Amino acid sequence: MKLLIVDDEESVNFAISELFIQEGYEVISAYSAEEGIIKLEQNQCDIAIVDYNLPGINGIDLLTIIKKNYSSIPVILITAFGSESVAIEAIKKGAYDYISKPFENTMIRNRINNIRESLTHKVKSETGDFGYYFSPVMSAIINKIETVSKTDIPILITGESGTGKELIAKLCHHHSGRKGKFISINCSAIPEGLIESELFGAEKGSYTGSQGLKIGLFEQADNGTLFLDEIGEMPIGLQAKLLRVIQENEIMRVGSAHVIKINARILAATNINIEDRIKNNNFREDLYYRLNVVHLKVPPLRQRKTEIKHLAMSFINDFNNKYHKNIKGFDPELLDDMINYQWKGNIRELKNKIEHAVIICNNEWIGYESLVFEEPADTPNGKVENHAVPFNSTQDNGFDFATIPEMYTEAKKQFSDIFDKNFILYHLNKNEWNVKMTADKIGLSRQDLYKKMKKVGIKKNVEYS
Ligand SMILES: Nc1ncnc2c1ncn2[C@@H]1O[C@H](COP(=O)(O)OP(=O)(O)OP(=O)(O)O)[C@@H](O)[C@H]1O
Ligand SMILES: [Mg+2]
Repeated sequence: MKLLIVDDEESVNFAISELFIQEGYEVISAYSAEEGIIKLEQNQCDIAIVDYNLPGINGIDLLTIIKKNYSSIPVILITAFGSESVAIEAIKKGAYDYISKPFENTMIRNRINNIRESLTHKVKSETGDFGYYFSPVMSAIINKIETVSKTDIPILITGESGTGKELIAKLCHHHSGRKGKFISINCSAIPEGLIESELFGAEKGSYTGSQGLKIGLFEQADNGTLFLDEIGEMPIGLQAKLLRVIQENEIMRVGSAHVIKINARILAATNINIEDRIKNNNFREDLYYRLNVVHLKVPPLRQRKTEIKHLAMSFINDFNNKYHKNIKGFDPELLDDMINYQWKGNIRELKNKIEHAVIICNNEWIGYESLVFEEPADTPNGKVENHAVPFNSTQDNGFDFATIPEMYTEAKKQFSDIFDKNFILYHLNKNEWNVKMTADKIGLSRQDLYKKMKKVGIKKNVEYS
C-alpha cells in the first residue's frame, strides 16, 4: 500500500511517515499541495493524508483536485483542533475521514488500517448479486465458501435474522459450478402435513386434494442446490426421512415405493440455536451433525461496525440507480449514529432504512430528516432523557457555588453544558422538536445544533414511519 502524506510541518510529516513505514506501508511525503499533485502523478497512491493548513493551495482544494482526478483514492484530512466546520466541509467534499490535531498514533494507525481493510475486501463486493462484504471476518467466510463450494459437503449457515444467510447460500451455489437450479424452501412456512410432499414429491392421488403428480423440491434441485431455510423449525417427524435422503442420495415420492436417485447439494440455515432444540428433543442430533459438516457463522451487523459505512454507501449507490437519484452520502453526525446503532434487524434493517431515506430525501446528503432510528440504545422507549439540573433551581444569583467544582475551567464547562442542555431542550420543545426550525430560531446551523445535542446527550424523540 502506498500512502501519500501532504503536510508542510516537517515534524508531523516525519512522524506520520515513520509510523506507517513501521506498519509496512510505502510512504511518499509532500510538503505542499502543489508537490502532492506532482507526487500523485508520479506514483500510484492508495491513500492520501492531507493537512488542511497548507501554504498555497489548501487541503480542501487539494481534496477536491484528488477527488476529481483520482476518485478512488480515499483522502483523510488533518484539521486543527476545534475546526469542526472544516471537517464537515471536507466530508461533504468527499473526504473519507478527518483527524483533528493533535492526534494519537494509535488512532491514526487504526483509521488507516480500517481503510486498508475496506480497500482489500472491496474486491469481494464484485460478487454483485450475492452481497457486499467489507470486513476480514466476512472475507474469511467468503474464502471458506470458495473452497468448500466445489465439494458436495453440506453447509450449515447460522446467524441472526437479516444477516444475509440466504445471500450466502446463493453465493455457495454460484461457486459450486452446479448446472442445476438453486431451490429454496422455508421449513417454518409450510404446514407440517405438506412439507413431505413439497420436499419429496407425491404421486397422483396420493393424498387428499392432490390433483396430479407433484415433483418435489429435491428433484427440482437435481444437479443444483437445495436450501433448507429455518431448518431448526423442521417437524421432528420428518427429520429422520430427511437424514436418510441426505445419506442415501435418493428419495421416494409420497405414495410411491419407487426410489429416485437425486444429486442435490444441501445447504441449511437457521437463526435459532439448534443445540437448544436438541436438548429439548425437538431436533435430531444425528441430523444436526450431518448438516453441520461445514459451519458458516454470520456475525450480526453490530459486530461488523467497520462495514456499516461501506454497506450504507453501496446501498445508496444501488438505490440511486433504482430511483434515479443523485444522493452523495450521509451527514457525518448521522453516520456516527448509524455506526453505533444496535441494528437488531441487521443488514435487512440497514438496507430498508436506506431505501426509505433515498426515496424521501430531497437533498444531496441524507440527514436525520430522512433516516431516523426507532429507539436510541441509551434512551429506553425513545424518551428523551433529561438529567440536567434545571438552570433556574440554583441559588446565589443562579449558582450554588458550594456544589460545583472549585476549578474555574471545570466549573464553567459543567455549567455551560447544563446551560446548553436546558436551553436547547427548551427551544426544541417550543418548536415541537423540529430541529431545523429550532436551529434557525436560535441562530445555529443545523449541524452545530446536532453536535451540541449529541454533546450534552439529547436525542431526538422520533418515531420511525
Ligand atoms: N452482505 C450483504 N450485502 C448486501 N445486501 C445484503 C447483505 N447481507 C444481507 N443483505 C440484504 O439484507 C436482506 C436480508 O438478507 P437475507 O435474506 O439473506 O438474510 P437472512 O439472514 O436469510 O435473514 P432471515 O433469517 O430473516 O431469513 C436482503 O435484502 C439482502 O439482500
Ligand atoms: Mg433467510
